[in-house]
Amino acid sequence: MRKTIVAGNWKMNASKESVKKLIAGILSGMDGVKSEVLVCAPFPYLSQVESLIVGSEIRLGAQNLNINESGAFTGEVSASMIKDFGAKHVIVGHSERRSIYGETSAIVAEKVKASLEAGLTPLLCVGESLEQREGGKTESVVAEQINAVIELVGINVFNNIIVAYEPVWAIGTGVTASPEQAQSVHLFIRSLLGENNETIAQTTPILYGGSMNAGNANELIACPDIDGGLIGGAALKAEDFLHICKAG
Ligand code: PGA
Repeated sequence: MRKTIVAGNWKMNASKESVKKLIAGILSGMDGVKSEVLVCAPFPYLSQVESLIVGSEIRLGAQNLNINESGAFTGEVSASMIKDFGAKHVIVGHSERRSIYGETSAIVAEKVKASLEAGLTPLLCVGESLEQREGGKTESVVAEQINAVIELVGINVFNNIIVAYEPVWAIGTGVTASPEQAQSVHLFIRSLLGENNETIAQTTPILYGGSMNAGNANELIACPDIDGGLIGGAALKAEDFLHICKAG
């Protein structure tokens, strides 16, 4: 039985004041939450979140990393630095990184490798654009993104990877994939993993992301192959986020 995981992706939205309020709000409503709850904060706020969640069930993650361990990479942050602030997870290959910062599937695979080597659990994001979906390419795009990682790190490490299916057309748009659309791609991803190792396929969590909110989380998380959500906008409001954490 796979555990439900709900991860908040705050993106580039935070201030010391808003982080304090948001974490306090989430902490005050954690009673009855059975999902694993994770918040992925911008780098400067990792330390603040680390101290605010001490002793709680909330886990901390980052949103990106550099593939190198240390050195002359001005402006970059390594996996070991992220770990240093108590984070156990890191988002890798978010579509905003792929499209705005030119991260190819090969780079994303290197980032997955660097996070695993440091003992971080990567949340590997995959998903197609609207054009690709309309062109009937959803499965080939997602397969290319996943296979690049399998080829570099091997299938066996997927027991330390969380996959997030995030159709690009659903991110931040208010247009959510229907449960049927999402379930079908999740099942495809699981079959793809299963071609390599069936046990790994059955145990790897696959989250859905893209305009998931308090109103649609239940029906999405109820799908057999959807194991939780990666939440952007709705993760910035404690009440909405908690509602999603209690779904499924
Ligand atoms: P959204 O973002 O929930 O605001 O659509 C999800 C994501 O980008 O991870």
